[in-house]
Amino acid sequence: MIWHLLLLLSFIFTINNINGDSIRYPAIFIPGNGGSQIWARLNRTSPPPHFFCSRHSNWFELWLDVRLLLPEVIDCFVDNMRLTYNSTTKKTSNLEGVEIQVPDFGQTSSIEFFDSSGIGYSSYFAPIIRSLVALGYTRGVDLRGAPYDFRRGLDEQEEFFDNLTKLVIDTYEQNNQTKVIFVTHSMGGPFALYWLHRQKASFKEKYIRSMVNIAAPWGGAVKTLRLMASGDNIDVYVVSPIRVRPYQRSAPSTAFLMPSFNFWDKNEVVVVSPKRNYTVHDYQDFFNDINYPTGYEYWLNNKGLLDELKPPEVELHEIYSSQMPTPGVLLYNNRTFPDLQPVVLPDNGDGTVNIRSLLGFKKWEGKQKQDIHSTELPGVEHLAILRHPMTINYVIQVLTGQFDYKK
Ligand SMILES: *[C@@H]1O[C@H](CO)[C@@H](O)[C@H](O)[C@H]1NC(C)=O
Ligand SMILES: *[C@@H]1O[C@H](CO)[C@@H](O)[C@H](O)[C@H]1NC(C)=O
Ligand SMILES: *[C@@H]1O[C@H](CO)[C@@H](O)[C@H](O)[C@H]1NC(C)=O
Ligand SMILES: *[C@@H]1O[C@H](CO)[C@@H](O)[C@H](O)[C@H]1NC(C)=O
Ligand SMILES: *[C@@H]1O[C@H](CO)[C@@H](O)[C@H](O)[C@H]1NC(C)=O
Ligand SMILES: *[C@@H]1O[C@H](CO)[C@@H](O)[C@H](O)[C@H]1NC(C)=O
Repeated sequence: MIWHLLLLLSFIFTINNINGDSIRYPAIFIPGNGGSQIWARLNRTSPPPHFFCSRHSNWFELWLDVRLLLPEVIDCFVDNMRLTYNSTTKKTSNLEGVEIQVPDFGQTSSIEFFDSSGIGYSSYFAPIIRSLVALGYTRGVDLRGAPYDFRRGLDEQEEFFDNLTKLVIDTYEQNNQTKVIFVTHSMGGPFALYWLHRQKASFKEKYIRSMVNIAAPWGGAVKTLRLMASGDNIDVYVVSPIRVRPYQRSAPSTAFLMPSFNFWDKNEVVVVSPKRNYTVHDYQDFFNDINYPTGYEYWLNNKGLLDELKPPEVELHEIYSSQMPTPGVLLYNNRTFPDLQPVVLPDNGDGTVNIRSLLGFKKWEGKQKQDIHSTELPGVEHLAILRHPMTINYVIQVLTGQFDYKK
């Protein structure tokens, strides 16, 4: 509590202390799963699930327009979001006649809100960005966004990573050669880590000041196993899990976020079903038993890419929460497996990501020369953490160089 008060006071201090001579690092925001807008254009040859689903259209916002999540209409939405897999090329593609675009790379517009319809509650990085703008930051200049097609895993993001490299250099140059800070949420953390692994130390030294990871799942989350088996609500809106499952299963990013065997013990049961139990070493059987063997291929294509979580070798700030009931073990019976929702035994975590996964950065302590700072905000939910005053304050402190003197 006292500690909270101190941070609050330092917040006030920060606000008062910002003036012309303090440094202002530019930021690049890297969203998590579901945090970028996706636009679609249809010229479908394959029949959609209902007669009333559009077959032809101009560009429209597919992810996310709440109106597309209404009962019945949601099946059209899910069918357009769904990917298909070619096991020869090991690549996914959109359904034939569905063209997809992630708009506004480099801008913040696509990552501030989940949908631009203005209906419902859909704020994403908006509260952080608004606070920075109030302090003199400018969207598109020293606040940049790196949206991407979050349906795909790390193995299909080459173009995005090339774009990210260009964005880093461009942002650095546009801001008087000031080093850039990454601000990530959720899956954006592991994605940024993968990119950092592939940069030379001299490049990182020149261009990257630090990385702020908010609620990063370094070791995956049990919740994804429920998505694969029975489907899941879309976090922001209440929808029928089984109806979104075809999309959720077809997205390799779901498999990418499955619990990692660097974090779960080989004897630890994560899914209980009437016939058998599954640990993180039983994924092949798990996917066969839920009748989605393609999921196992997705998992294989992604599991080795983070190199057993090598350190990022940049200064780190980890903001995460705890003490929220988070899926720990999924209990199915022979009525519910695999299509209906399981009973969920709770684990510690942020409601979505298990605590051990959020704490994955601790594996890097002593393994990189750059500092690792962290802050735990108990009782704050995985998404709500983005609008928590402590998070906003922390990001402001990092971006305005308050940590440059805290050694
Ligand atoms: C739609 O697809 C059909 C064939 O699949 C093609 O002949 C037609 O030109 C396409 N329409 C547009 C607007 O691209
Ligand atoms: C998968 O890709 C291969 C190689 O490009 C191609 O020959 C094959 O037709 C594709 N399979 C399907 C089902 O599209
Ligand atoms: C990469 O950047 C180009 C140019 O801004 C853009 O057209 C393209 O959609 C981007 N691709 C990805 C995957 O971000
Ligand atoms: C750019 O950086 C140089 C050297 O650090 C400094 O002298 C100059 O005032 C800066 N210009 C702006 C516009 O911030
Ligand atoms: C599965 O695990 C549960 C709880 O750990 C246990 O009670 C049950 O006997 C196990 N079932 C099988 C088939 O091993
Ligand atoms: C459920 O599974 C148990 C144990 O395998 C079995 O005894 C029971 O008959 C099953 N019930 C149904 C409805 O299939």
